[in-house]
Amino acid sequence: MKWFNRLIVWILPIFPKPFIWIFSKRYIAGKTLDEAIQTAKSLNEEGCLVTMDVLGEDISDLKEATAAKEECLRMIAALHEFGIKGSASIKLTQLGLQIDPEACYQNVKEILTFAKQSNCFVRIDMEDHTTTDATLELYRRLRKDFNNLGTVIQAYLFRSQDDVKELIKDKIANLRVCKGIYIEPKSIAFKRKNQIRDNYKDIIHLMLDSGSFVGIATHDKVLVGRSLSLIDGYKISRDKYEFQMLLGVTEKLRRKLVQDGHAMRIYVPYGEQWYAYSMRRLAENPGVAGHIVKNLFVRS
Ligand code: FDA
Repeated sequence: MKWFNRLIVWILPIFPKPFIWIFSKRYIAGKTLDEAIQTAKSLNEEGCLVTMDVLGEDISDLKEATAAKEECLRMIAALHEFGIKGSASIKLTQLGLQIDPEACYQNVKEILTFAKQSNCFVRIDMEDHTTTDATLELYRRLRKDFNNLGTVIQAYLFRSQDDVKELIKDKIANLRVCKGIYIEPKSIAFKRKNQIRDNYKDIIHLMLDSGSFVGIATHDKVLVGRSLSLIDGYKISRDKYEFQMLLGVTEKLRRKLVQDGHAMRIYVPYGEQWYAYSMRRLAENPGVAGHIVKNLFVRS
């Protein structure tokens, strides 16, 4: 049925947004901050930490970057006010990286200053390869003044092990490791599942071996298993790593890891700009789209 799932993802853009929302609710906490806080509260009650994300990426002018920054500040204030066990995830393109990198730097600095006062950790998501250098550069610059900051490494990129080694050497490697979600050229990125898995495991190995904090962000059972073997093998203390998953994905595996006493952080996206995020998630896993459509039309 792969062709059926792919077909559905292909034709989804012609459907009206309210229809797409039916697919998306599972991955998105809601369109408003209040809804996201409710989701965060229930995840905390389940024993999960959260990282909250205001949806939205590429922007066309700096006014939008300022608006995104204001929403991030509101989100951090709400995490503090409601006593949520959680952190913030931010995207640099949303904060002006591709329009004016210096303005972006100032926006992130303001977010970090406020986050520090609110005892909140902030992680910079990694976007497509055209932003990798600029993201790491801005991260390095800000880490000079802020230690409540981390970023993300994508295991599908050839360059990632070198980036991780440099960050470890400079003692600023607080990293979430993910496979990577963007479609990248084969000249710079692994394409085969096993190559990406092997690189992922090697990066986790580097991180754990160096004693750096690592967020193991995957729903892939094989990688969760390999990471657990490394954690056991190295007798890594539980404050040196956490697992991370997306809202609405592999909830059974998530519960098992929590039951076994591992820290688990759930990525909780919210906001008016839910549409682009949803389309990406559905394209990533067409099986979900096919499954939902079948449930909508075929009553058993
Ligand atoms: P894989 O895609 O092989 O999935 C393993 C299994 O998980 C699938 O077989 C399926 O069962 C399930 N699954 C995965 N995705 C699903 C979905 N959408 N719906 C339903 N089931 C699904 N990427 C990036 O480029 N930059 C970033 O900053 C981040 N940040 C980030 C944070 C967190 C907390 C997570 C978990 C992921 C990211 N990602 C990311 C996305 C990441 O790069 C990757 O695309 C997804 O996590 C899917 O990869 P897996 O490792 O889960 O493996």
